[in-house]
Amino acid sequence: MSEPWWKSAVVYQIYPRSFCDASGDGVGDLEGVRRRLDHLAWLGVDGLWLSPFYPSPMKDHGYDVADFCGVDPLFGTLSEFDRLLADCHAGGLRVLVDWVPNHTSDRHPWFVESRASRESPRRDWYVWRDGSPDRPPNNWRAAFTNGPAWTWDEATRQWYLHLFLPEQPDLNWGNPEVVRAMHGTLRFWLERGVDGFRMDVIHCIGKDPALPDVPERVQRIPVSALNDDPRSHALIRGIRGVLEEFPGDRVAVGEVYLLSTQQVARYYGRGDELHLAFNFPPLFAPWEASAWRARIDEVVRKLDPRDAWPTWVLSNHDNPRHRTRYGSEARARAAAVLLLGLRGTPFLYAGEELGLEDAVVSDARRLDPGGRDGCRAPIPWSAAPGHGWAGAEPWLPWPPEAATRNAEALRADSDSILRLYRRLLALRRASPALRLGSFAWLPAPEGVLAWRREHGADRRVVLVNFGTEPAASPVPGAWRVDVSSDGAGEKAPYPGRLAPDQALVMSPSTSAGASR
Ligand code: GLC
Repeated sequence: MSEPWWKSAVVYQIYPRSFCDASGDGVGDLEGVRRRLDHLAWLGVDGLWLSPFYPSPMKDHGYDVADFCGVDPLFGTLSEFDRLLADCHAGGLRVLVDWVPNHTSDRHPWFVESRASRESPRRDWYVWRDGSPDRPPNNWRAAFTNGPAWTWDEATRQWYLHLFLPEQPDLNWGNPEVVRAMHGTLRFWLERGVDGFRMDVIHCIGKDPALPDVPERVQRIPVSALNDDPRSHALIRGIRGVLEEFPGDRVAVGEVYLLSTQQVARYYGRGDELHLAFNFPPLFAPWEASAWRARIDEVVRKLDPRDAWPTWVLSNHDNPRHRTRYGSEARARAAAVLLLGLRGTPFLYAGEELGLEDAVVSDARRLDPGGRDGCRAPIPWSAAPGHGWAGAEPWLPWPPEAATRNAEALRADSDSILRLYRRLLALRRASPALRLGSFAWLPAPEGVLAWRREHGADRRVVLVNFGTEPAASPVPGAWRVDVSSDGAGEKAPYPGRLAPDQALVMSPSTSAGASR
């Protein structure tokens, strides 16, 4: 049996507001994405994940959904979505949409009805509790506000639960009608032909109906990073069943925002829950060999025994970009080699292939309640005024160096980070070992990580020097450099040493004697 496409895919995350504006209002849109598909085809990714584009009051920039089956006019229309999907498929690109099952917008008609009265037939679609106005029902904290995860509704004199903003009330997945309605929203997109979903905070949908306090020692942590109730697993199995009603390998990628790989592992691997789950501990690791080694070991130890296929991510719309976190382009380049050399499905965040840093956003221009504006800066496509965006000043400031660090300029420069990503993606596509092969550590000096990937006759070695000094790191046998993070020495024999912040992928230079 052949492996499902998502195991060997590289998925590219698009935050539609920030990608490209075709309508001229300063906010990216679906038509803007469609016009830039040539960039993705040229780069060589296999699929895209589109962050939410649904009708929304935009309190959380689209993660507050007012209609799960539509497109916000800011982003376009449903027929523009269909056209984008058709163009992606024609170009061999898969499309994942972002599904936000834990909560809706407070403007969603379901919540408007639920809130209207205690007798509303939709009252129980959300999580309402009695209490007195000065004392929330439990000690749960919301994300972003760091206040209680509860808002008092004066009209009906009850509290409602929201793990995020008060404008994002939590759905009650304990109610079978909610389950049915949410399954319907999946079918809506599956019928249109999407290849799968990125599922927002999917570990939060199951909750203990007793809503017990969290232990005092973790009480300051938002409950969205703690909730790990067994009910979620049964609900996810139901969701998996919906995907399996459809032909093709439709994929469920869960955002399981629990900061232990051990906990994440339980959400997949047995063939009946998620296909893939994000694992964030590596994203929060500093740029240090020992830290990365520990995070990778954890994946090997916790995911492999369950047959849970790993995922890797360095940047997304919720965190400072890795170029910013690691502090230099040289490190961002080495990190790209690391990301694309590991065993598992890598996720790229639009703009990382340009080596973008977070934008500096003045207090006056800050918009996000979670302080995540910097990584959501618009993508600069060219050096021209407007950087390839139609018309108006974009909704957030440009990232640093947009005049030179833009897609057009970097595409023309054979030494650029963009061309490095392209070489790495081409290499991965051509190498069964990199896509699907086994993983084994090789001995390496302090500050360096070295590993071997192997699949059938295809063998590769990946080396990453996290240090700021050159490092002698011999690998037994004769090896030839396929791709080097700084472009140096490609196609030449491996000299047995690495420059500071340099990472390499290599293959045996002769068939004999180069393997171990
Ligand atoms: C996820 C999203 C984040 C959003 C939150 C609430 O963590 O990645 O952007 O704010 O869920 O939906």
